[in-house]
Amino acid sequence: MRKIVIAGNWKMYKTQAESLEFLQGFMSHLEETPQEREVVIAAPFTDLSILSKNLHNNRVLLSAQNIHWEQEGAYTGEISGSMLTEIGVRYVIVGHSERRQYFGETDETVNRRLKAAQRCGLTPILCVGESKEQRENGETESLIVTQLKKGLVDVDQQNLVIAYEPIWAIGTGDTCDSPEANRVIGLIRSQLNNPHVSIQYGGSVKPNNIDEIMAQPEIDGALVGGASLEPESFARIVNYK
Ligand code: G3P
Repeated sequence: MRKIVIAGNWKMYKTQAESLEFLQGFMSHLEETPQEREVVIAAPFTDLSILSKNLHNNRVLLSAQNIHWEQEGAYTGEISGSMLTEIGVRYVIVGHSERRQYFGETDETVNRRLKAAQRCGLTPILCVGESKEQRENGETESLIVTQLKKGLVDVDQQNLVIAYEPIWAIGTGDTCDSPEANRVIGLIRSQLNNPHVSIQYGGSVKPNNIDEIMAQPEIDGALVGGASLEPESFARIVNYK
């Protein structure tokens, strides 16, 4: 039985005041959904503590957007896993394409972060996905297999979520066709040694395409960027039929 995980990735949006305003609106639109449907908000570091204090309903879980691989030390600007678990964070996004593209993240550093997250009991959401150019050159499959192979060395697949996020679909409104996302996610699953890993789709997920995406048999949830910033639209996504 695979868990459904719908996560909103706020990226570098929302002050503390804005995050609390969001929460109020979002909770009022949240419907009762099956127990196995987990709702996650990946907020900026500065919002996590105040959100945690205001989330008395553990139906909504918190995620960080990055983690350092050391437990502590002279690493200016970094945040460790224990700093996150102390304030009630449960998930962490690792290897998002924006971190790979702008912050020098590699499959090796992704691997270190995944293991660090698991060591302190966080569930990592590992992001993989190809660029437009890689897709056009027919490199999608080999790229994803490499990202998984290198990223997952010594990683415990009992405590892991994967997000397939084709880079060309992120923030563009150009969603990957659901059957194609389903096919690539099937390929990702074939590379894993645990058939129960939940695998999300991410890339221009909106209220008007979530039903179709979630109807695909291989897709176990969504990682939502832009549409997770607005309470009503994220609630509509979480409440998909
Ligand atoms: O991590 C989610 C994200 O990269 C997708 O963003 O705005 O296309 O939903 P968006």
